[in-house]
Amino acid sequence: MVSHRRPGDPPRPGPRTWRPWRSAWLDAAYSPTGFWSTQQPGGHFSTAVRAGPLVAQAVAALVPASVGVVVDVGAGDARLLAHLADLLPGVALVGVDRRVRPEGLDPRVGWFRDHFDVERERWTNGGPDAWSSAGTPFLVAHEWLDDLPVPVVGRRAGTWHEVEVDGRGHERPGAAVGAEDRAWLADWWESGSPEVVRAEVGRARDAAWAVLVRWAVARGGRALAVDYGHLATQRPVEGSLLAYGRGRQRAPVPDGSVNLTAAVAVDALVRAGEDAGAETLLLERQSAVLGRHPEPAPADPLGALVRRSEQAALTAPGRWGDLWWLLQGARAS
Ligand SMILES: C[S@@+](CC[C@H](N)C(=O)[O-])C[C@H]1O[C@@H](n2cnc3c(N)ncnc32)[C@H](O)[C@@H]1O
Repeated sequence: MVSHRRPGDPPRPGPRTWRPWRSAWLDAAYSPTGFWSTQQPGGHFSTAVRAGPLVAQAVAALVPASVGVVVDVGAGDARLLAHLADLLPGVALVGVDRRVRPEGLDPRVGWFRDHFDVERERWTNGGPDAWSSAGTPFLVAHEWLDDLPVPVVGRRAGTWHEVEVDGRGHERPGAAVGAEDRAWLADWWESGSPEVVRAEVGRARDAAWAVLVRWAVARGGRALAVDYGHLATQRPVEGSLLAYGRGRQRAPVPDGSVNLTAAVAVDALVRAGEDAGAETLLLERQSAVLGRHPEPAPADPLGALVRRSEQAALTAPGRWGDLWWLLQGARAS
């Protein structure tokens, strides 16, 4: 891998250094040599908004007429916003991401650089108040929350411990998990799935979501999360930490060469949003959302074929069809 180190950067942990996943993942994502600092995601994996316009059409259908601005949080290369620019004329569009504005982005789309600090649970460059004041907001977080680094923990004889990892991805059990994380695990992982031996502690995702929802609700708006996830009764017994690199699933190694991701505890997110003052307006898999109101197929046979294959990919079980759509916010918007 090309070295992106700069003079003054802290020494990089060697391949034999053991650290809890919680700090190893943070570095692997955000350090100067981390994935989001050095890599172009399009070269590594594809998200559902890259498949075509259908996701954007379904998002646009959820945007109430009163909305003045759609903010895409963790917008990436802003494919969703580029489609929305045609679908929602007259609505301001803003992408928010820790990365720079994508080259060639539609001039109708605004851009704001901001980073959500998962340890301090706050935005570091102003947060929602700085992003837009253009009327009632509709926030979207599309395949964003699953990328926020979280602690990976294991369970032995009923006791939770940190999972430590070295620079090559080898693992070993670490120290006991702290009280706040234990309480979260008791609420969200132990109750419905007692056989679980490994988990990810999603408190930082709940906090990130609560910030967005609270801000949207205070302005009469709504927030939509679309992400991979699970509910209490179906937690993955061995957790859900995965890595993607160069178009394939890879071994999770915290060296910045792959995108690390773990599914979101969706029911914990629902609670976080409701505690932030929102009503839950939609909670469904993407297969149901896109299957309910299929867009009319284009008249030309080739266009119709492309549309059918996009619809099939976006609703396929085991992949994009399993994405959860969670809409929360003010009811009368
Ligand atoms: C998987 S990509 C999703 C991009 C886009 N929403 C899509 O669905 O194609 C995740 C995006 O979140 C951004 N991101 C990751 N962690 C972030 C953080 N803590 N604060 C702000 N942006 C972050 C990354 O830079 C990346 O563009």
